[in-house]
Amino acid sequence: MTAEVVLAAEALSKRFNGLEALAEVSFTLYAGETLALIGPNGAGKTTCFKLLSGEMAPDSGKVHLFGRDVTRKSMAERVRAGMGRSFQVPGVFASMTAGEAAALALAAAGGKSFRMWGRLEVPEAALALLERVGLGGAAETPCGRLAHGDRKRLDLALALAQGPRLLLMDEPGAGMAPGERRALAALLRAERARSGIALLFTEHDMEAVFGLADRILVLDRGRLIAEGSPAAIRADPRVRAVYLGEEAGGGVGLQPKP
Ligand SMILES: Nc1ncnc2c1ncn2[C@@H]1O[C@H](COP(=O)(O)OP(=O)(O)O)[C@@H](O)[C@H]1O
Ligand SMILES: [Mg+2]
Repeated sequence: MTAEVVLAAEALSKRFNGLEALAEVSFTLYAGETLALIGPNGAGKTTCFKLLSGEMAPDSGKVHLFGRDVTRKSMAERVRAGMGRSFQVPGVFASMTAGEAAALALAAAGGKSFRMWGRLEVPEAALALLERVGLGGAAETPCGRLAHGDRKRLDLALALAQGPRLLLMDEPGAGMAPGERRALAALLRAERARSGIALLFTEHDMEAVFGLADRILVLDRGRLIAEGSPAAIRADPRVRAVYLGEEAGGGVGLQPKP
């Protein structure tokens, strides 16, 4: 039996004024799989995410989502096709409570429009959604007053409101304390077990990468230099060279921290 292909990148390339940010990057993500995209700063990870999510168009190459060519489709169309993307909580939500934001996201996912004045009703489903990401106690808290880690949880809840079958996360653990980051990884593991959602994420923290990913892709200067299991990636001399090079400059280490 062959697993369903959720997402396929086909020779994706992107240049910025002559700089080759992404060069002929191809990979496949299968149903239920968790794939990590790693690489030093400036390797092209965020650019790759933008091409996959539709925030930016590639110079050449294709993006397939659940077997459909979505290269020229908008972000909204990709979301409707089952792609979720975590995003920074927009400013408009700062004075809204977490419960209201969750209610709004659920309503938007259901194709309903909202009156944007007065208090929003916070239905049971919105509270359940917050509960699911460990924010059960924060329904009444204004989004702008949430701690950084809790904002990230809310961000995840808003993405999950759409019921995606694939979730893209660009550095979901950025700025989090190690304890918060571990809690986020546990949350993602629980989501995966619950819904079989496929995940693609970038992350600097190697503990999170090696603890969560089924498979790892390594980018260096826009090119995919390695792809394999966490054990294979850890042992790969080319990957070690890239990371040891960075380590000499005070960058991240490849060994997961104890
Ligand atoms: N909008 C842009 N305009 C010009 N250069 C960009 C732009 N976005 C990214 N770059 C450049 O492309 C390269 C890859 O960046 P990025 O995808 O953000 O890498 P990463 O996320 O791996 O750190 C970097 O050299 C960066 O400076
Ligand atoms: Mg980046």
